[in-house]
Amino acid sequence: MQSGTLQKCIEPTCGLEYPISDIRIECDRGHLLDIKYKDTPHTSLKEIFYKRRNHSNDIFNESGVWRFRELLNFCQIDTENFGEYSKCLVSLDGAEGRLSKPYHMSKVSDYVGLKNLLLQPEGYNPSGSFKDNGMSTAVTHAKLVNINKIICASTGNTSASAAMYAANENIECDVYIPAGEVAPGKLSQAFQFGAQVIEIKGNFDDALSASLKKASEVGGYTVNSVNPFRIEGQKTIVFRALEQLDWNPPDWIVYPGGALGNTSSCGKSLMELYEWGWIKKIPRIAVVNSEGANTLYTLYNGKFEDTNLRWNKGKPDVEIIKKYYAYMDRNGIRPKTKATAIQIAKPANILKGLRALEYTNGVVTQVSDQEMMDGMALVGLNGFDCEMASGAVPAGVKKLIVQEIIKKDDTVVGILTGRQKDASIPVDYHKNPQNRFANPPRT
Ligand code: F0G
Repeated sequence: MQSGTLQKCIEPTCGLEYPISDIRIECDRGHLLDIKYKDTPHTSLKEIFYKRRNHSNDIFNESGVWRFRELLNFCQIDTENFGEYSKCLVSLDGAEGRLSKPYHMSKVSDYVGLKNLLLQPEGYNPSGSFKDNGMSTAVTHAKLVNINKIICASTGNTSASAAMYAANENIECDVYIPAGEVAPGKLSQAFQFGAQVIEIKGNFDDALSASLKKASEVGGYTVNSVNPFRIEGQKTIVFRALEQLDWNPPDWIVYPGGALGNTSSCGKSLMELYEWGWIKKIPRIAVVNSEGANTLYTLYNGKFEDTNLRWNKGKPDVEIIKKYYAYMDRNGIRPKTKATAIQIAKPANILKGLRALEYTNGVVTQVSDQEMMDGMALVGLNGFDCEMASGAVPAGVKKLIVQEIIKKDDTVVGILTGRQKDASIPVDYHKNPQNRFANPPRT
């Protein structure tokens, strides 16, 4: 039983606290929230987590999220008592996180020039993306506070995941999507799982504003990654990677960057594990932006007004962020990439992302659409499936090796965030012999 678990503002100078039962995505001063645990989980749990993989038909042991339930016990349940946790935790029959762990993919390794590269296909989650890790925990919280309708904005995968869990838990779901900018395989999932789709003219950032406005007007329950309970579930992506490495951290963990929920959850999991004495070294995070949606890259690397935006121990220069957003609005700069999953210009978790980067001495790079497609194709040639946004990971690793930021003998874990849900992208890629890894059809 964990006592004293609460929601806490991330900004050290603010630090407002709220009970777990509060429904909110920010503190009263408008800052993002963390879930804070009072107790330190004992390292002997490592052995228990491993044993749970032999799950004996307990779906919460089968689940790659709830297998680690002691490290995300915001429900404050007795984690050993099946009767208690089975009443509280939301799972799609134990499927979330069950198949995702780091794999060697030799062709990707050879291409990027790195022996110790492991790639973790989070697309092998029930709705086909990493979102299920955090959605199972967010919907658990929603049920804990007696919510019967959830709401989100999405470039497609969040809405698919939210709709899937809502259908399975028999609750309602509204999804706000940028009209015409969502992969057909993702949109079809939202419809198929019975969600109400609301099309917004504009991009993801506009859809998020509209959904947050609606949620605040009607007291709706938002399941985007600004919900701190989403972040808790996504920590298990890191737990599974580390478990596979016997809890010996790699040198790097690499993600594509969109709204920066993943970056935030990776940072939080590493901060906690290090503080708890579970790991002795902190891996560096590398975030890979698309060139067409590169706000973090631009601000982090001093490409706007020569300011290198940093968390700065909790005193980030928020004015430069506002200034850049105003500059984009004024000049009609809209995010544009074929990797629509990460077609985001105003990452809602930017401050948590900066905190994660500072804590881990992280870096931010950017890659082109062509590089992402090559990365995606190469993952496919290893017999694994991923979408274009996930192709940013091999592409980004290659770039960072060429720049000698990642060293050739480093160990790197890259997260392949989603499965292919736009069949036209690989079909078009392979039909065009100009593409590096194309295998055009014979006539
Ligand atoms: N990769 C995929 C496949 C995604 O769907 C997303 C985000 C990201 C990467 C970026 O992750 O936001 O944690 O930095 N998709 C969201 C959605 C925005 O609505 O499905 P992030």
